[in-house]
Order: sequence, then structure tokens, then C-alpha cells
Amino acid sequence: MSASNNQVLESIKQKARAKNRKVVLPEGTEPRTIQAAKTMVAEKIARVTLLGDKNEIAKLAKEHGLNLDTVEVIDPAHADNLDEFVDAFCELRKKKGITKDEAAKTMKTVLFYGAMMVRKDIADASVAGAVNTTGDVLRAGIQVIGLAPNITTVSGAFMMTIPKYRDTVNKVFMYADGAVVPNPNAEQLASIAAATAQTMKSLTGEEPRVAMLSFSTKGSAKHEDVDKVLAALEILKKNHPHIKADGELQLDAAIVPEIGKKKAPGSDIAGNANVLIFPDLDAGNIGYKLTERLAGATATGPIIQGMAKPANDLSRGCSAQDIVDVSAIAVLMRGE
Ligand SMILES: CC(C)(COP(=O)(O)OP(=O)(O)OC[C@H]1O[C@@H](n2cnc3c(N)ncnc32)[C@H](O)[C@@H]1OP(=O)(O)O)[C@@H](O)C(=O)NCCC(=O)NCCS
Repeated sequence: MSASNNQVLESIKQKARAKNRKVVLPEGTEPRTIQAAKTMVAEKIARVTLLGDKNEIAKLAKEHGLNLDTVEVIDPAHADNLDEFVDAFCELRKKKGITKDEAAKTMKTVLFYGAMMVRKDIADASVAGAVNTTGDVLRAGIQVIGLAPNITTVSGAFMMTIPKYRDTVNKVFMYADGAVVPNPNAEQLASIAAATAQTMKSLTGEEPRVAMLSFSTKGSAKHEDVDKVLAALEILKKNHPHIKADGELQLDAAIVPEIGKKKAPGSDIAGNANVLIFPDLDAGNIGYKLTERLAGATATGPIIQGMAKPANDLSRGCSAQDIVDVSAIAVLMRGE
């Protein structure tokens, strides 16, 4: 990880420490998770709950020097509040016709149990994905925690730290969606934009300025793809009137002030955007990788966003340090 990103992450960790939140790490029987728990407690980034078989966790804790007095350990299959969690899950999935047996089986799994801890405010955020797939992490979050108010779609943002952009060192842009929704409709795109604006605010404290990106700027081209972006902007303005946003904008009009002035005169976002919303997953995923590879940017993410409370995902290739970093991000995404 580059030095520039370390500075941005250091500031995120500093803010996380001040909140003294509790993070549940459902994959407690996994070595990197145990190492991360040790660091999180030592650096006071968050209080930690580990989920899983207690004997297995005790064995790993011994191997990695984690003092089990410093963390909470819960085995979902034998948890005191399992019945209460099963009832709550039955209620949530009532319309899907779930049986009590099915609910009990699901609630004994670490991802769903962890998500229920977050739903019930027993933990502030959940972080998993070192061994489970993104799909499994998202499914538990979507089914148990649910979506944030006024949001219809869970998506994945990338925090892009550019070593130097014009006069700014370590310039941060938030990009989305780079990970979850292949071909969002206008309503989904509006939700992705609103969630990304919130992520920008939560992680950097900067006022989000959202550009709805396209291959057209303010009517320079006519196409149904442009119409989708414009419709998304309209929904965003209607449902989230406090968010500063404009579109449709080409990338250069969005981030280069001189071009923004020329192509979109009068726009207070053009040339000055810090949240870039791509029209679909092809564009978003290619866009973040181009920035990473050609501009030497550090990409942090995908940062899963749009749920009512944070359930964040890890890459299966993650390091223990990545788990610590994503936990700090999750703490800030919990908001005030
Ligand atoms: C989110 C995901 C797990 C849903 O998978 P699924 O359970 O097979 O999806 P379904 O289409 O059957 O939808 C199940 C429910 O989740 C909802 N849902 C699916 N994707 C959603 C999203 N992005 N946001 C909100 N809700 C979503 C559906 O509306 C549906 O709701 P319902 O149960 O009330 O009807 C799936 O889209 C996925 O795996 N995404 C991850 C993609 C990925 O791996 N990206 C790479 C990461 S780097």
C-alpha cells in the first residue's frame, strides 16, 4: 500500500478510535481475522467480537498471541440469544415463507448471526469476506440489516487516493459502482449516487460534489444511455435534495475546471466534482482500474454501501492489515 493511502487511512483510523465502537468479525476461526483482532484491540481502533467455535478460536488465539480477555467470543450455534435472533429473522423473512427450522439453521451461521448483531445494535458494524464470497456477505447484510432509508440498492464504492492531482497532494475521489450492480436502472443509479455521497462525507468529512458521468455533457449527445443518467439525476435531486449533484457530465468536464466552465457553464459541480458516478459497472470497474494503473492511485474498496448499518466486505486475498483498515472504514460508515 502506498504512503499516500496510508495517510488517508491513518486519518480514518484516528477518527475511528475516537468513536470507541464495536465491530463483529464473523470469520473468527480464520488466522488473519485473529491477527486483525489483536491489532484492533492494541491500537484501540474498535472493540471486537469474534464469532465461531470457541475451541478453534482459543487455539488460534494462542498461536497468534491474542489475549482472549481483550475480545468477546460468541459461538452462534450455542449463543444465549439465538432464540431471540431466530424469531427476529423469522419475522423479517415472513413474506418469503421461511420456516422456524430454516431460520434457526441460517441464524447459526456466522455471517447472518453477525448481521443480526448489527441490526440489533449489539455491534456497530460487521466485517467479513476473508473466506466468504462477496455474494454471501452481501446476502446476509441485505436480508438482515436491510437498506438505508431512501436507498434501493447496495453498491460498492472505491476510495481513490491520487498522489498528486493539479495542486492537491493525496487528492481523494470516491468512485461507484465498481463492484456490485452490472447494469443499474435510473432509480438504482440515483441510489448509488446518494450512497456514495454519504460514504465520501463519512470517510473524509469533505462535502460531496457528485458528477453523474456519461459520454455526453449537457446534451452534447443524444442517446438512451444519456437519458438514463439524466433520469437518475432527476431522481437523486427529488429524493435527496440536500446532495450537490449535476449531470450529465463527461469525465473531463467533471474534474477539470477549465473544461467544466466551457462545457457546462453555470454548473457548480462541473470541474469541481469529488464523487464520480459511472453509468454502469463496466465503466466503473474499468475507470477505477485505469486510475489505479495509469495515475498511480491507491484504490481502497469495494466499500459496500447502501445498507441501513455497515456490513463490509473483504477480498479473499486480504491481509490482516486490510481487515483492520476496512474495520476502521466500517466504524466511520456507522455515522454519528
Ligand atoms: C447481492 C447478491 C448477493 C444478490 O444475490 P442473490 O441472492 O442471488 O440475488 P437475487 O437476485 O435472488 O436477489 C435476492 C434479493 O436481494 C435483493 N438484491 C439483490 N441485489 C441487490 C442489491 N445490489 N441491492 C439491494 N438489494 C439487492 C433482490 O432485490 C432480492 O430481494 P428480495 O429477496 O426482497 O426479492 C448478488 O447480486 C451478488 O452476488 N453480488 C455480488 C457481485 C460480486 O461478487 N461482485 C464482485 C465484487 S468485487
